[in-house]
Amino acid sequence: MSNNTKNAKLIAWVDEVAAMCKPKNVVWCDGSQAEYDRLCAEMVAAGTFIKLNEQKRPGCFLARSHPSDVARVEERTYICAPTKEDAGPTNNWADPAEMRVTMKKVFDGAMRGRTMYVIPFSMGPLGSPIAQIGIEITDSPYVVVNMKIMTRMGQKVLDVLGDGPFVPCLHSVGAPLADGQKDVAWPCAPSIADKYIVHFPDDRSIWSYGSGYGGNALLGKKCLALRIASNMARDEGWLAEHMLILGLESPKGEKTYVAAAFPSACGKTNLAMIIPPAGFEGWKAWTVGDDIAWIKPGPDGTLRAINPEAGYFGVAPGTSMHSNPTAMLTITKNTIFTNVALTDDGDIWWEGMDGPVPSHAIDWTGKDWTPAEKTPAAHGNSRFTAPASQCPSVEPAWEDPAGVPIAAFIFGGRLSKTFPLVYQSFDWNHGVYMGATMGSEATAAAIGQAAIRRDPMAMLPFCGYNMGDYWAHWVKMGASVPKLPKIFRVNWFRKDGAGKFIWPGYGENMRVLKWVVDRVHGRADAIEGPFGLMPRYEDITWSGLEFTRAQFKAITDINKDGAVAEIEGIKAHFANFGDRLPKEMQAELDKFASRVSRSPEVWSLLAG
Ligand code: OXD
Ligand code: MN
Repeated sequence: MSNNTKNAKLIAWVDEVAAMCKPKNVVWCDGSQAEYDRLCAEMVAAGTFIKLNEQKRPGCFLARSHPSDVARVEERTYICAPTKEDAGPTNNWADPAEMRVTMKKVFDGAMRGRTMYVIPFSMGPLGSPIAQIGIEITDSPYVVVNMKIMTRMGQKVLDVLGDGPFVPCLHSVGAPLADGQKDVAWPCAPSIADKYIVHFPDDRSIWSYGSGYGGNALLGKKCLALRIASNMARDEGWLAEHMLILGLESPKGEKTYVAAAFPSACGKTNLAMIIPPAGFEGWKAWTVGDDIAWIKPGPDGTLRAINPEAGYFGVAPGTSMHSNPTAMLTITKNTIFTNVALTDDGDIWWEGMDGPVPSHAIDWTGKDWTPAEKTPAAHGNSRFTAPASQCPSVEPAWEDPAGVPIAAFIFGGRLSKTFPLVYQSFDWNHGVYMGATMGSEATAAAIGQAAIRRDPMAMLPFCGYNMGDYWAHWVKMGASVPKLPKIFRVNWFRKDGAGKFIWPGYGENMRVLKWVVDRVHGRADAIEGPFGLMPRYEDITWSGLEFTRAQFKAITDINKDGAVAEIEGIKAHFANFGDRLPKEMQAELDKFASRVSRSPEVWSLLAG
């Protein structure tokens, strides 16, 4: 299909890329269902897609990646800011001029023997002043169909773009085909060293080579909506965050929106799709987004958030009718599954799904699998790609270009001790500090003080500039926004002496969210503790759950030893940022240290 745009810059860029990458042909994607169906059929014929049982999973496909290409490659992800300091200590940096030379070399002839697709896409509702238009050029039909689900995509985007600006996103799987060479089901550059995920903040461009998987290849998501958008947000006075957005509606119809950041493996998609538990009759939870939030000051003085995506690229293993019924209902049709197991009746399966373990399946590598196997049937990072419009809890206003007003930010981590179930910051800067110091315990930590892998605001792999400057930007936002959200930290993961989780989690997290909502509206009390403001036992709604005062004490007591270790941990964490550490963050650490020094060996909630 030829192009249907008069955007001279776009046409020139596509010509230039085609001349460099030397594809067999060029296709401009129109975003139609017919195009999607045609590409899916072509991928079935090529062995990239397996059509699932039409009765059980209508409109669904399974893809299996190359075993070397199963996740984002952080070690090959670059922020090519003008200087190393501008990229900061948490990013890989390369000199932009040198990297441009390297990129032109690797992309020279990269698409030989393949079709080059031009994908116009919008992050955010089409035409919204908050939205950004990107153009992804790719040689992967898998990317095209995933982008159709994850973004607003096709001719309608070109119509809105006119001759306006766009973010150029160039992607190749990095597997050119010689004359007559047969293709494979999942082409990619198998060696990690041959992959590049490169961002140029100066001209806001993205170059990705060698991987066809997830955030490496669907460039609207992590690359544009976080790494490049965080640069835009800093320059323009807004926030591009790795946050879910959730609306909580009380039985009286009062709606409160929260945005929450968690490192990976903390159940972010589950929280975004939470179902209020027994005891919360009449409450509703609405999903605005499960991964990314773009947050801008609104005309009413609040911060307004949109979800720039149009679908979910969720982790499959562990998703079940217990952990996330909403997700299970979202993925019943029109979903692309990647690296999950295939059952004998043409359906999908993964570890942690409901029902019996199948006695036989084909695992994610395409081999026969039985429960006797030591390896999992689905890859740990296997995914579903599903349209947000299919989500039963999707917020009615999820496509409102004005966004939803955020009343609270919630930061979380996976921490087995010391950190209480929930606490609120004393003020904005203390809240920024709570986000800047968050993280999860490194897995398989030995007995003793487990090391915390700091993941500030869950943005460690996604902040497109110096993390210290990013905290300064948060501080600055606090000084300029009239109606600031309140800020909270949560920890669902405290363990008892036997190593068992104390808090039931999942839908029961609603009890914590209700306290957050009540605090936001000035309806609940709090007690001042070393970490922040905390609810007493009687401030939490317990109806429908058996949870004793002793259990509550076990997830809210704060051991001085643990708090002192946290001070030391934060000192080391902050030391990485040198003079880019905002003085406000050092001041918060000093205040924390002084609160801890005054606290008893075991600090306990008064009435706890
Ligand atoms: C994701 C991630 O895939 O954060 O969303 O890694
Ligand atoms: Mn994410």
